[in-house]
Amino acid sequence: MDKLVINGPTKLKGEVTISGAKNAAVAILPAALLIDGVCKIENLPNISDVRTYCEILEKLGAKIKWFSDNEIEIDARNIDCTQAPLDMTSKFRASYYLLGSLLGRCGTAEVGIPGGCNLGARPIDQHIKAFESLGAKVDVSQGKISAKVKKLIGNSIYMDVVSVGATINAILVSVLAEGTTTIDNAAKEPHIVDVANFLNTMGADIRGAGTDVIKINGVKKLHGDCTYSVVPDQIEAGTFMLAAVASKGDILIKNCIPEHLDCITAKIIEIGGNVEDLGDSIRVSMNKRPNKATIKTLPYPGYPTDLQPQMGVVLSIADGTSIINESIWDSRFQYTCELNKMGAKITDQGKTAVFEGVKNLTGAPVYATDLRAGAALIIAGNIADGETQLYNLQHIDRGYENIEEKFRSLGAKIQRICEPD
Ligand code: EPU
Repeated sequence: MDKLVINGPTKLKGEVTISGAKNAAVAILPAALLIDGVCKIENLPNISDVRTYCEILEKLGAKIKWFSDNEIEIDARNIDCTQAPLDMTSKFRASYYLLGSLLGRCGTAEVGIPGGCNLGARPIDQHIKAFESLGAKVDVSQGKISAKVKKLIGNSIYMDVVSVGATINAILVSVLAEGTTTIDNAAKEPHIVDVANFLNTMGADIRGAGTDVIKINGVKKLHGDCTYSVVPDQIEAGTFMLAAVASKGDILIKNCIPEHLDCITAKIIEIGGNVEDLGDSIRVSMNKRPNKATIKTLPYPGYPTDLQPQMGVVLSIADGTSIINESIWDSRFQYTCELNKMGAKITDQGKTAVFEGVKNLTGAPVYATDLRAGAALIIAGNIADGETQLYNLQHIDRGYENIEEKFRSLGAKIQRICEPD
């Protein structure tokens, strides 16, 4: 089992360049199946979820050429299979986008019930509602979701909950449908705008992405023959912002969109940090113990759940008692048990956790319980006294490109040790 060995404490200093957004990339790749042509995608993050997605697309008949670790060409002219390999699709969450794109392109789709990080219940009723609104019949049984339709007809979809995945799936299924689809109470995350921009570049007619009403006028065909660059990863940028704060460091975070980070910036300033907006980069520094804070995770533009564990590390060493209320996922405080092994004083009950700030953390063997918990534990290991051994790296490798190299370039003493299982 591979592990990261981190020796702290280190004040992180220097520059880091942000990769393309994981949650945009894992939606843009299946969206490419809607194109009856060839497209080039740049700034793809080199992470295991992207590599798995590319393998799945190839199994469905797409041809993929790799120009570099971050740049591919997808030829989706001959999609000859609509049954995605169940063993691969049931491994990660974003495989549910194959339902929207295969249904849109071929009128039929079969995908394993999506897996992914264990964050509690992860229903897909709103995805199914969107498919059914446009006329599809959906069946969930034997570990898979199957959907079928003779002809997709645009319709109005009201989302009962604000859902990133259901909003993107509703877009995917509507792009080639006949007539107009309206999505009300849509999610507004930057990666939703990115997927819509990608599809519009390829010939779709999607308006209003980034607001809570999205209108899609169905088109006959997506032409391709275009190049698209994936938006910078808001969550990776936020992870390094919080790593700077936790370590009392000073980091220039390059290739990011400061506007996407407004609510993290506001919280960092509230707890005593400094943030400088430099257009396409952001500089974050901290020279004192953080103040306590109260955080509630919310859909964009609220404080993102995907930066909750990283902020949890900062608040674990804050001056005073902080509270985090996690309003999106039922089980996103599993990392607090690991942080407590490092000397933190956190008690969680359901969706609320109380952080009694301690002066410092101490190194310990800990386990990444999910992707963002893993990133948080790297931040914790870097500020803790002594050695931290971090296990379960497969979670981190799903979503962060070269994470230990990036931390090392900022001064962290971090090594990946490969150990036979
Ligand atoms: N929900 C429903 N019904 C649905 C869909 C969602 O009730 O049909 C509920 C969920 O249970 C949750 C809330 O709605 O309480 C929001 O879920 P959402 O659908 O927005 O989440 P998701 O699309 O499954 C994406 C990201 C997650 C991120 C959430 C929230 C991808 C591949 N995943 O998940 O990212 O936490 O949005 O922003 O885009 C991560 O990157 O670590 C990660 C978990």
